[in-house]
Amino acid sequence: MLAVKVPKKEAEMARRRLLELGILAKGYSIKREGDFVLFPVTGPVNGFELVEAEFERTERRPHSYREVVEVPAELRQLLPSSFDIIGDIAIIELPEELMPHGRAIGGAILKVHRHIKAVFAKGGKVEGEYRVRELIHLAGENRTETVHRENGIRLKLDVARVYYTPRLATERMRVFEKTQPGEIVFDMFAGVGPYSILLARKADLVFAVDLNPWAVKYLEENIRLNKATNIVPVLSDVREVAGKIKADRVIMNLPKFADRFLKEAMLSVKPGGIIHYYGFSPEEDLFSEHEAKIKATARELGFRVEFLDRRKVRPYAPRQFNIAIDFRVE
Ligand SMILES: C[S@@+](CC[C@H](N)C(=O)[O-])C[C@H]1O[C@@H](n2cnc3c(N)ncnc32)[C@H](O)[C@@H]1O
Repeated sequence: MLAVKVPKKEAEMARRRLLELGILAKGYSIKREGDFVLFPVTGPVNGFELVEAEFERTERRPHSYREVVEVPAELRQLLPSSFDIIGDIAIIELPEELMPHGRAIGGAILKVHRHIKAVFAKGGKVEGEYRVRELIHLAGENRTETVHRENGIRLKLDVARVYYTPRLATERMRVFEKTQPGEIVFDMFAGVGPYSILLARKADLVFAVDLNPWAVKYLEENIRLNKATNIVPVLSDVREVAGKIKADRVIMNLPKFADRFLKEAMLSVKPGGIIHYYGFSPEEDLFSEHEAKIKATARELGFRVEFLDRRKVRPYAPRQFNIAIDFRVE
């Protein structure tokens, strides 16, 4: 290809000039020949000695699996631009048309993201009381246990046996920032402990309840892993425990069914205590239905509620949002 040849001592000046002119060919390495340096160029340029030369291509590491994956051209546009990473496991949501190419997609993810050791596809919706979903192994190790880091804590978990999403990390940090030293916290649907372990760094005591035995097994391991000494893990249906605990702050992270547990939450909070309620809502009505249920339950129990904050936490499905409502109970 066409090249500009300059004496070594003028090489830096020449490189800048060629860059300015936008004529330096990208993707090739510059070549040294004795006391001269050769730059690959895309066309003739005045004021330089031009020669023909061969150049080696420079390797640019691909940034996305989409750059290296081999799928039929007509399916390329369906390739998801993102996927979840939990520890060293990737979980991707593939449209049906791409499922037959799952191995190639998984392989491409492993190739581009060297820290990922296993790739799974979502095999369905998050379902049941335990809020877990089926996973389909695509590539790498057929292993579902990993250790994930979030907000400075370590969480060991099995992605096939417990609920966990890294997409709530910011929300959990927001609740941590509101938590005050000395508080008693009641994490009603604790899972493997991402709220409990974080909030235990500020609160006096955290009650962490879950009815999934796998979640509580990992919660207990995570309490040890993070050297927390002020968390009480409880394997139980929260209905058995609620009312026996009086907390300053209650976390209701079960968006699909939280409205069914409002009574339990309100009976577990001290006067003036705060409840962090989560729900799913359509875009056109994010809060009013949930707030109506909160008010109705408070009325039934003879409590008064003061709404403190309401926000979209994250998109959940097309035109559906995971929302949060913080309220005080008097
Ligand atoms: C959406 S997950 C949230 C887990 C955790 N808070 C997190 O952020 O990863 C809800 C959790 O509630 C638990 N759960 C569902 N119904 C329950 C109940 N009646 N009593 C106690 N735990 C329950 C499930 O097992 C699941 O681990």
